[in-house]
Amino acid sequence: MKVLVTGGAGFIGSNFIRHMLAAHPGYTIVNLDLLTYAGNLENLSDIETLQKYRFVKGDICDKGLLEKLDFDAVIHFAAESHVDRSILDSAPFLQTNVLGTQALLEEARRRGCRMVHVSTDEVYGSLAEGAFHETSPLMPNSPYAASKASSDLIARAYCETYGLDVVITRCSNNYGPYQFPEKLIPLVIANALQGRPVPVYGDGLNVRDWLYVGDHCTAVDAAFHKGGAGEVYNIGGRNEQANIGIVRRLLIAVARKTGAPEESLLGLIAFVKDRPGHDRRYAIDPSKIERELGWRPSTPFESGIDGTVDWYLSHRPWWERIISGAYREYYDLQYGKRAIL
Ligand code: NAD
Ligand code: DAU
Repeated sequence: MKVLVTGGAGFIGSNFIRHMLAAHPGYTIVNLDLLTYAGNLENLSDIETLQKYRFVKGDICDKGLLEKLDFDAVIHFAAESHVDRSILDSAPFLQTNVLGTQALLEEARRRGCRMVHVSTDEVYGSLAEGAFHETSPLMPNSPYAASKASSDLIARAYCETYGLDVVITRCSNNYGPYQFPEKLIPLVIANALQGRPVPVYGDGLNVRDWLYVGDHCTAVDAAFHKGGAGEVYNIGGRNEQANIGIVRRLLIAVARKTGAPEESLLGLIAFVKDRPGHDRRYAIDPSKIERELGWRPSTPFESGIDGTVDWYLSHRPWWERIISGAYREYYDLQYGKRAIL
């Protein structure tokens, strides 16, 4: 099977490609990624010469390019993914997340192939009590969440109208290796290691439901191989945490591992103006994917967070090259002389 993975140079996509190549040795993976600011081919440097892996630099909105690629199924991660950026400028979110998803759906329809659309729990909005179910109403609050909800609805419509074999997954917050250091967990670790202030929005009591990225990868794999056409699967680890608790835990772990005084790292916490439209709480009920597809997360939060802090400590050049901008040279250096198609 030849699987087109979109957004494979990003955080979850790169973890997913590594997972797929190990779990399904017979598959060929084509990674289509535009290499926006969030795409980093250094995330895949260890596999880039494998025969069964191929990188294509390109835009999911480019229908001509999609037609030329050789694949039998699509797993779609590519997106503008950061809520704060969507508040500053929603245009690229609508372009990639909505129109790009429509272009992929159209191409999957033309070929009659399966597509997994990787979505998010943010489409449901903020939760007062209980947990999000697949049937919860879509009430997105940020431009990012609204663009993802729009793409979910277009995917659903392609199934209803054209009979497209599409599966939608909605996962909670991921953490782990290769996450871009604009997101809360890598930002806290990187700032702590640089002695920079650690911004906590509002009162720090907003709650997110955290899942190790490797567990998200196995869930998308299960949805791809076993999910029903037109079905939605929530993915989460029943692991609600207040932001301030996560921040304190990370700073204490960094202090313990580096020998820095705990109080000085905790002193970096700076409560700042809240994010506009900041969702108060997310919580996922994953019982459908557990029951119907037999998926279970395997990384407990404590060991996942501990391992993630270790990873950022031992991969300092990786995130320092992002902060300096040097990571953007990697494509030209490694791929500049190779043909794109
Ligand atoms: P990311 O920002 O790290 O990576 C996104 C990737 O998409 C980048 O490599 C980028 O270059 C690529 N891309 C952007 N626009 C493109 C375009 N027009 N054409 C081709 N490639 C393009 O994002 P992530 O955190 O890895 O998230 C991946 C997917 O998972 C997204 O769809 C996101 O909505 C979803 N998701 C993320 C989380 C999370 O916690 N990070 C949770 C649930 C769902
Ligand atoms: O729930 C899934 C979503 O999780 C994904 O769909 C998104 O792509 C992903 O970015 C993530 O969205 P969040 O907005 O929840 O993630 P972020 O890391 O930006 O923020 C997590 C929480 O921490 C949120 O409540 C805002 C807060 N925060 C974030 C940053 C960057 C801070 O307090 N300070 C910060 O500096």
